[in-house]
Amino acid sequence: MNSLKLNYDKIASDYNQRYPVAQKWERGQALLELAQQVQAKAILEVGSGTGYWLNLLQQVTNGLYGLDYSMGMIGQAKQQPATLNLAQGTGTQLPFRSGTFDMVYCVDAIHHFGNHRAFIREAYRLLKPNGALAIIGHDPHSAGVSSWYIYKYFDTVYDTDLLRYPAGTSVTSWMAQDGFTGVSSQIVEMINNTHVGNRVLQDPFIKHNATSQLALLSEETYQAGMKHIHQALWDAKENDEKITFRSDIHVKMFLGYKR
Ligand SMILES: C[S@@+](CC[C@H](N)C(=O)[O-])C[C@H]1O[C@@H](n2cnc3c(N)ncnc32)[C@H](O)[C@@H]1O
Repeated sequence: MNSLKLNYDKIASDYNQRYPVAQKWERGQALLELAQQVQAKAILEVGSGTGYWLNLLQQVTNGLYGLDYSMGMIGQAKQQPATLNLAQGTGTQLPFRSGTFDMVYCVDAIHHFGNHRAFIREAYRLLKPNGALAIIGHDPHSAGVSSWYIYKYFDTVYDTDLLRYPAGTSVTSWMAQDGFTGVSSQIVEMINNTHVGNRVLQDPFIKHNATSQLALLSEETYQAGMKHIHQALWDAKENDEKITFRSDIHVKMFLGYKR
């Protein structure tokens, strides 16, 4: 799996471009509601990145903890307005005492942890009774739910995602087997973007370093994907056809409680 590991230090300084100020994220609302529901005083995000979601949760508590593998991302998180308690580490071995947190969550990160189930077990250990674990992200295994032009035009990306991401069905059954109750899976956000014609070239997510999907590609494979896109644009123009590039991604939340 090592070749599937991305060094986020390289992209840390540009990472927050994905969070334009004007945009409201429904996954953020889901996190806020959960934190309120469990009356969270201490919250841990694993794979906390630049601290964007932790900063949002300041509305609920000041007990905000983040753990990330990348010192570059931790450096960015230190610049958030909220005061965050940040640690460097890995999602499968969390350096905190058992029964410390009311809520543990990760967003777009479990696919980086390698041993997904070890993270779920660690989260269970760290939760207080009545605490909640939320795992948020997309599930490339759930056929027909998401359709992303990146998967179509860039070779190997979809197959690599199938290797990196756990299937949602596995996540919920591991959670139940490892002690969580009230385990559920729901769509918390639907990303529906259509890029018409050349406008696809302005999609911030098409940059080589904007997502781990493309950042993992060699320069050669990335450029081959860009060539496919330029070819498709050219063919559409030649045939006087309209071409669209869709990003339809269902973001799920896998939720469970420690009773
Ligand atoms: C796509 S980013 C998500 C960041 C943040 N959760 C967000 O939604 O903006 C994935 C994060 O996981 C971190 N990461 C990668 N491998 C990790 C590991 N083994 N343990 C903890 N964090 C890891 C990366 O450094 C990166 O900050």
